[in-house]
Amino acid sequence: MTTEFDLGALLAERGAERYELHAKHLNPQLPRMLHTIGFDKVYERAEGAHFFDADGNDYLDMLAGFGVMGLGRHHPVVRKALHDVLDLDLADLTRFDCQPLPGLLAERLLAHSPHLDRVFFGNSGTEAVETALKFARYATGKPRVLYCDHAFHGLTTGSLSVNGEDGFRDGFAPLLPDTAVPLGDLDALARELKKGDVAALIVEPIQGKGVHEAPPGYLRAAQELLHQHKALLIADEVQTGLGRTGDFYAYQHEDGVEPDLVCVAKALSGGYVPVGATLGKEWIFKKVYSSMDRVLVHSASFGSNAQAMACGLAVLSVMENEQIVAGVRRTGELLKSRLTALIDRYELLADVRGRGLMIGIEFGKPSSLKLRGRWTMLQAARKGLFAQMVVVPLLQKHRILTQVSGDHLEVIKLIPPLVVDEADVERFVDAFTAVMDDAHSGGGLMWDFGKTLIKQAVANR
Ligand SMILES: Cc1ncc(COP(=O)(O)O)c(C=O)c1O
Repeated sequence: MTTEFDLGALLAERGAERYELHAKHLNPQLPRMLHTIGFDKVYERAEGAHFFDADGNDYLDMLAGFGVMGLGRHHPVVRKALHDVLDLDLADLTRFDCQPLPGLLAERLLAHSPHLDRVFFGNSGTEAVETALKFARYATGKPRVLYCDHAFHGLTTGSLSVNGEDGFRDGFAPLLPDTAVPLGDLDALARELKKGDVAALIVEPIQGKGVHEAPPGYLRAAQELLHQHKALLIADEVQTGLGRTGDFYAYQHEDGVEPDLVCVAKALSGGYVPVGATLGKEWIFKKVYSSMDRVLVHSASFGSNAQAMACGLAVLSVMENEQIVAGVRRTGELLKSRLTALIDRYELLADVRGRGLMIGIEFGKPSSLKLRGRWTMLQAARKGLFAQMVVVPLLQKHRILTQVSGDHLEVIKLIPPLVVDEADVERFVDAFTAVMDDAHSGGGLMWDFGKTLIKQAVANR
């Protein structure tokens, strides 16, 4: 059989045009931004928590593709499952039969959350959230959804309705009826619930933006209040789920929290195939799918596809066999304690927070006169510039990829693959220490770069 399509040859021939192609045919602001901050690298290959450029230089990934690469890139077990499922020539997506893999993955996922009964499979985090919003509104018969200030639940229109940042929402109104409440404020929650029209509160147990954790006891108390008012608790575990925070689901950190609906996605398929899942209680699914007429009332053409399901099963199997969650606790504690120890040493370092391998590093106003002037200048131009000043040398000088944890925030978020080891942690801490030493010297390339950022921020106003 002749092959008319040769992927390797295509990449060999045209791969070098990647940035031009993106600039011409896709979102042009991405290559523009990458060129501006010098992130326009050409990575050739990846393995585990590392990527490599054409010269074989090794980059440490502390971002995991926004969290999808939970097991790192190309985990051999997940990769084999993907090869196997393709080689099996399954009659997948006939749509009028029941395939075994979705049932098996649902069974395995539900085993990690014994109070939940059923699963809907979609294709992304935002779709998992859309499903939860629809199910909550239908099951309760009420229209309004509450969310927390600074929340992020995805960017499709329903999920955008529960987004806590104006920058994402502006210009897309009208959205669903919704109201923000401060994370941790039970009085605000109670006030909204009294109005009688609330279907649910959706909450990230640890917020991706800023890495803020729900205060101890909040989720359980919120759940009680919600249930008193016949409203539901939705836990968005798209980022925090599947071991990221040192528990299988972050809500399990405290006893007695049993959300009515739980959203997962990202790491579930090992980064290979898009996937999303909404887990829920029996009565909710029974209401939504109440008769044969309603069998397709909520469905997705690619939902439950064999590749995603096979990868999901392989991921859960690796998580169990390699005791990934216990490893996250160990490595996460090491990373957090090594970083926390630096707070006293660096006046620009204000806080280290988070759990497991979801760590926020916050910078704050320095005490010395020498640094305060520079800090104030940066803040006046745009909040978040100092965190940018740290992220850039981490990549340029130390070949470590990190991200700023949201616009206008002086916080870096670390969400590395869950398989990072002690050597990776030490490499990160050494690099971060070197960058902070530079920053505290008050001069040099780093602050020169800060001046460039200020000019750009002013020009962009
Ligand atoms: C908590 C949370 N929910 C939902 C989403 C949306 O997921 P996706 O990008 O797969 O739509 C994200 C993405 O970052 C997320 O962090």
